Amino acid sequence: MTEDLIAAAREAMGRAYAPYSGFAVGAAVRADDGKIYSGCNVENAAYPEGLCAEASAIAAMVNAGARYLSEVCVMGKGDALVTPCGGCRQKIREFAAGSTAIHICGPDGVRKTTTLDELLPLSFGPENLK
Ligand code: THU
Repeated sequence: MTEDLIAAAREAMGRAYAPYSGFAVGAAVRADDGKIYSGCNVENAAYPEGLCAEASAIAAMVNAGARYLSEVCVMGKGDALVTPCGGCRQKIREFAAGSTAIHICGPDGVRKTTTLDELLPLSFGPENLK
């Protein structure tokens, strides 16, 4: 079942625009409309303007009208685990429950599965503003 999410992240990783870091990342989220939305990192000559793969996948989901995601896959190459950066953890938090599974993947598949709560404990979210 997670295989479809992994495949989407892999395809997105292949579309990464990462001429500066040379580090391609793909991400895919499963949304509550039953669809998968994916994204890749999009770097910029003005370095801080670059976009992470998770942010671009979430933007695709929101632009399609979905507002909740139940599973995330992030994929990159190399030996180290490609865990979502701090900013992306918060971006995922906006649209997901703490128990949401986050699969950290290499090109061959899942290397580690964790949860949003583990990656971002005691998080601040939409409920705090109610
Ligand atoms: N990157 C992501 O796309 N997601 C992450 O969570 C970690 C980092 C990208 C940003 C940049 O284009 C490249 O990886 C190197 O940091």
